[in-house]
Amino acid sequence: MDGNGRWAKSRSLPRIDGHTEGEENLARLVRVAVRRNVGWLTVFGFSTENWVRPRAEVRHILGLHKKLFGRVAELNELNVRIQWMGRPFDSPEARTPKYVQRAIRKAIKDTAKNTGMVLTVAFDYGSHAEMVHAARQAAATGEPVDVDAISRQMYLPHLPPVDVLVRTSGEVRISNFMLWQSAGTEVYFTEKAWPDFDAAELDAALALVR
Ligand code: IPE
Ligand code: MG
Repeated sequence: MDGNGRWAKSRSLPRIDGHTEGEENLARLVRVAVRRNVGWLTVFGFSTENWVRPRAEVRHILGLHKKLFGRVAELNELNVRIQWMGRPFDSPEARTPKYVQRAIRKAIKDTAKNTGMVLTVAFDYGSHAEMVHAARQAAATGEPVDVDAISRQMYLPHLPPVDVLVRTSGEVRISNFMLWQSAGTEVYFTEKAWPDFDAAELDAALALVR
């Protein structure tokens, strides 16, 4: 969900206001996606590379994830089940702080019975880390390591392959997101910064695959 900083800058606001608006926009867009009968919406909230940002900015973004995972009432009203993917909390490289872990676990539990759209939030996520994890797990089984074996060891193996990948804010690149799952994906690039990514934008992205 790129472009929060530029969105704020263009309004002479502090960067963190862009992140706050980005989180609000995700809540709006989840509603739109549900209305459009999207089955799986996966968003890149925070990457394994993002930890080097200024500490105050990281702290703000962590707080926004706590807020996001706290939107259980809204998710339940929409029949949305939330999940998380990222470096497993018990792995040595993992960096998700305890209070965010708690929010994640609670949201997953409190929306587990919902049968509608699945919203997956990638946090402390990187595709390279995921693929290394998967390869190691696959090798540890002692079975032949082939495409199926690696696919079975992704963080969330039940996630379907990506139909359409969206990159906002004028960047024409993918940045370590779901590389394994995107082998045949359509890609929608837009100039709009994430906080301005609206229903018309989602429809344009969906039009690539519907
Ligand atoms: C995306 O917005 C938010 C995260 C990566 C957490 P940016 O912060 O990357 O916004 P720009 O790229 O500076 O506009
Ligand atoms: Mg950016």
